[in-house]
Amino acid sequence: MNIFIFKDQQELAQEAARLIIEAWEKKPDLVLGLASGRTPLNLYNCLVQAYQEKRIDFSRIRVFGLDEFKGLNHDHPLSFASYFKENLFNLVNLRPENIFLLDGQAKNIESHCQAYEALITQMGGIDIQILGIGLNGHIGFNEPGSSFGSRTRLQILTEETRAAHLAYFQAMGEETPVMALTMGLATILEAKNILLLATGEEKAQIVQEALEGPVTTSVPASCLQWHPSVYVFLDEPASTFLKRKAFYLHCLKLTWPKKYSLRLF
Ligand code: GLP
Repeated sequence: MNIFIFKDQQELAQEAARLIIEAWEKKPDLVLGLASGRTPLNLYNCLVQAYQEKRIDFSRIRVFGLDEFKGLNHDHPLSFASYFKENLFNLVNLRPENIFLLDGQAKNIESHCQAYEALITQMGGIDIQILGIGLNGHIGFNEPGSSFGSRTRLQILTEETRAAHLAYFQAMGEETPVMALTMGLATILEAKNILLLATGEEKAQIVQEALEGPVTTSVPASCLQWHPSVYVFLDEPASTFLKRKAFYLHCLKLTWPKKYSLRLF
C-alpha cells in the first residue's frame, strides 16, 4: 500500500487530481470508478478546474458509479446520480454515452447488476477506482460482513450508515433508504488501481483498522490490503492513529516528488 499523508484536504485533493491527470496523459480513454460522499468533493472540484485550464480533457474518459440508493431515480436530488451531475458531469465534457451508473429503480436488480459488471469488463476494467470509507469501514455500500467475493448487488444498509445519511433525507421530509446497489468487494478489487481518500479525525480510527489491522470482513476496507496497487491519500487528522505513521512519512520523504506508477494496461 502506498500511504500518503497531506497537510490538509486541499493539498490532498490537488494531489489526487494530479494522479488522475497523470494517468489520463498516458491513457486518454481512462476508465474511472467514482465514489460519492463528502470526501471526494474537493477532488472533483480540482478536476473541474483542471478541465477549465485545459490540463485534462474528458471527451474519451469513461466513468462508472460505485453505488446508488435503492428506490431513488436519477433525478432525485439525493441520488448519487444527481451528486455526480452537480459536481462533475455537468461541468466537464464527459460524453453521456461514456457515463455508466447503477439504477436505483431497476426493475430486475439482479440482471441490472450483472449487466453492469459485464459493461465494466467490456470497457476493459476500471483503471482507477476512487473510494471513500464509511465510519464502519464500508467501501461503496459493502457493509461489515460483506464477502470478499461479493459482486455488484443489492445491500441492506446498517443503521449507522443510514444514520450518516439521515439529516439529508430528513431535510426533505423523506425516509432514509434501507437498501442500496453497490459494486461488490470483488468488483472493487478487480480495479487496476485504487485511490482511497479519507479526511478528518472522525475517520482516523477506522483508517487505522483498515490499513494496519487484520484483513477481516468486519472491516470491509481492510480487503484493500490484498490489492497490488492501492494509493491511500489521507489528510493529517485522518492519519492520527496510524501506528506506522513515522515510517510512511519517511517513505514519502524519500520518494517525493512522486511520479505515480499506475497499472493502466
Ligand atoms: C457512503 C457511500 C460511500 C462513501 C462513504 C463515506 O455511505 N456509500 O461510497 O465513500 O459513505 O462518505 P463521506 O465521504 O461522506 O464520509
